[in-house]
Amino acid sequence: MTVVEIPWVIDEHTRIKHALLTKYVDPWMAIFFAVQTKLGKEQKVVYFDGFCGPGTYYNDESKTDECSGSPLLVAEVANRYLDEDPKRSVIIHCIDRNVQCTEMLKKKIDELNRHNQDWQVHNGEFVDKVNEVLDLFDQSDLRYQPLFFFIDPRGYSGYPMKSLERLLAYPRAELFVNFMVYDIVRFWEHERFEKDMIALFGTDEFKKVSDCTTPEQKYAFFINLYSSCLLKAGAQYVMPFRVNTPSQGTRPRYYLIHASKDILALKTMKNNMAKVSDAPYRFEAIGLVSGQMSLFENPDKVALRERIEELCRSAKGWVDYDEIEDWAYANTAGVAKTIKEALIELEHDGKVSIKRQPGQRKNTVVSGARIRADK
Ligand SMILES: C[S@@+](CC[C@H](N)C(=O)[O-])C[C@H]1O[C@@H](n2cnc3c(N)ncnc32)[C@H](O)[C@@H]1O
Repeated sequence: MTVVEIPWVIDEHTRIKHALLTKYVDPWMAIFFAVQTKLGKEQKVVYFDGFCGPGTYYNDESKTDECSGSPLLVAEVANRYLDEDPKRSVIIHCIDRNVQCTEMLKKKIDELNRHNQDWQVHNGEFVDKVNEVLDLFDQSDLRYQPLFFFIDPRGYSGYPMKSLERLLAYPRAELFVNFMVYDIVRFWEHERFEKDMIALFGTDEFKKVSDCTTPEQKYAFFINLYSSCLLKAGAQYVMPFRVNTPSQGTRPRYYLIHASKDILALKTMKNNMAKVSDAPYRFEAIGLVSGQMSLFENPDKVALRERIEELCRSAKGWVDYDEIEDWAYANTAGVAKTIKEALIELEHDGKVSIKRQPGQRKNTVVSGARIRADK
């Protein structure tokens, strides 16, 4: 077993992962606080860091200064919202099986807890601790609150699909999973990992990967299978993000997978991903398996334009812009800007007609417009 020094030196992948996490958690809190206020409800959200680590990293090998890990980054975002309005609550539960990690984090997160919030650090296995906490939630109103679960293990065991199914049963649950596909491709065949793989996917269908011949096909197979399993487990939208590594071409070590039950959650995540996608280790939303895409198709190679045109043709009549936008968010790499650009190009090329509402400008397409494929 590798002995890991705690804390350890942060790597570039982790920085990128943190950028996306904080860029998402920030508007996630803002949106839910605004909705709760509008509905006259208490402003309350819950963040779970399922594999929290020690909360800090060394910035580089000199080990002279430190930066924050995921639980502290989220605690810092929470503090900003609590400074603005101390009536709000941000509940945080952190889990790690390594006692050195939990002790170190506990000290740091307590120091940050200037608004006296319910911030707890649990030492133990993710599956055991998350179930203990959720058993308590089930006896309170917390089960109805927005729950965000960050699942960031260093491997492929310890977060079985069966447990994720319980998380996804909560009405406002969202999952953000660091899916270590590189290790899965390396180890899936080893007999001693069979049990882990069955637990990870919740099925033995992963064995069908043996029909794949190239590593790219294996990657696509596992990502698509995992995404489908999350959908079966209760998610309504699943979006895998590839975190590109310059030296590794199209074979990144991991994908970040966002699973939610609400199109607004998916849209917020993709929009924020687009904002950080020019970082050196870019993110890419790769879309996921859908009825029209074969399992081995590389989704980002299928042009957004063609897919939108195909959707309009299959609709056989006028379709609302909002409907196209929701579909494209869920099934392609597109975000509002690129979806609109694709439609305008299709209109210029005579492939679709756009019926705009009075007052809506040409060369734009917005909510209220209707679109139809031309002959
Ligand atoms: C990649 S690190 C987490 C880093 C942290 N999320 C961050 O971004 O700052 C993974 C952590 O998960 C813990 N871990 C691994 N398997 C676990 C399990 N089954 N249950 C709980 N913790 C686990 C390890 O001890 C390690 O600290």
